[in-house]
Amino acid sequence: MPSMISQLAVLSALLLQAAAQTLSISSVGAIGTGCSPGTVKAHVNQADQSVSLQFSNFRADTGPNYAISDGRVNCQLTVGVQVPAGYQFAFDQTVLNTAYSVSSGVKVSSSTSYYFQGELSESSGTCGVTGPASSSYTTLVNRLSPTIWSPCGKASIVSINTDLRADNGNTNNSGSISVRNSTDASFIWRRC
Ligand SMILES: *[C@@H]1O[C@H](CO)[C@@H](O)[C@H](O)[C@H]1NC(C)=O
Ligand SMILES: *[C@@H]1O[C@H](CO)[C@@H](O)[C@H](O)[C@H]1NC(C)=O
Repeated sequence: MPSMISQLAVLSALLLQAAAQTLSISSVGAIGTGCSPGTVKAHVNQADQSVSLQFSNFRADTGPNYAISDGRVNCQLTVGVQVPAGYQFAFDQTVLNTAYSVSSGVKVSSSTSYYFQGELSESSGTCGVTGPASSSYTTLVNRLSPTIWSPCGKASIVSINTDLRADNGNTNNSGSISVRNSTDASFIWRRC
C-alpha cells in the first residue's frame, strides 16, 4: 500500500512538472497567398499552453466578382521553437477566431496542418460552415490528428499551414470567411 501511494505521488509530481514546461519561440517566418511577410506575429501563452498566431489580413471570398484564387488562401508559418530538455510537445488543436457571411449553399472552411522539419508525418484537421449563416465572431476548432511529437528536448522548426476556403459551387452566391485577430494552437507535453 505505501508503495502504491508513493507511486501516485511520483506520478502526480511528474504531471505537474510536465504542465509547467515552457516553450519558447525563436523565429517566425510566413509565406502564402493569405499572408505577406511581416503580417503575422506569434507568441506563446504560457498560461493556457498555446501559441497565438496573429494575422493582419487573412480572408477568403467567393462570389460573382471574385476569382477562384480569392476563395483559396493559405498561410504557411515556419516557427523556430526551443523545447526543454527531456520533453517533447505536440499541437492538439487550433482555435480560429473567425467572422463569416455565407449565402445559401456556400461553404467556408478552415484547415490546419503541421509537421516538424525533417520528419515525414503530418497532423491535420478541418472544420467548416455551410450557408446560409453569418457571424461576426465565432471560434472554429480544428482538432489535429494524428498526434505528431516534436524532436525530444531540442530546438526544432515546425511548419504550420492554415488555409481558408470559400466555395459557392459555381453558383452566383457569395460568401466570405476571415480570421478576425488570431489563431491559437494549443499544445501538450510528454517526457521523452
Ligand atoms: C450568374 O449570373 C450571370 C449574370 O447574371 C448569369 O448569366 C449566369 O447564368 C448565372 N449563373 C448561375 C449558375 O446562376
Ligand atoms: C481575439 O478576439 C477575441 C474576441 O474579441 C478575444 O477574446 C481574444 O482575446 C482576441 N485575441 C487576441 C490575440 O487578441
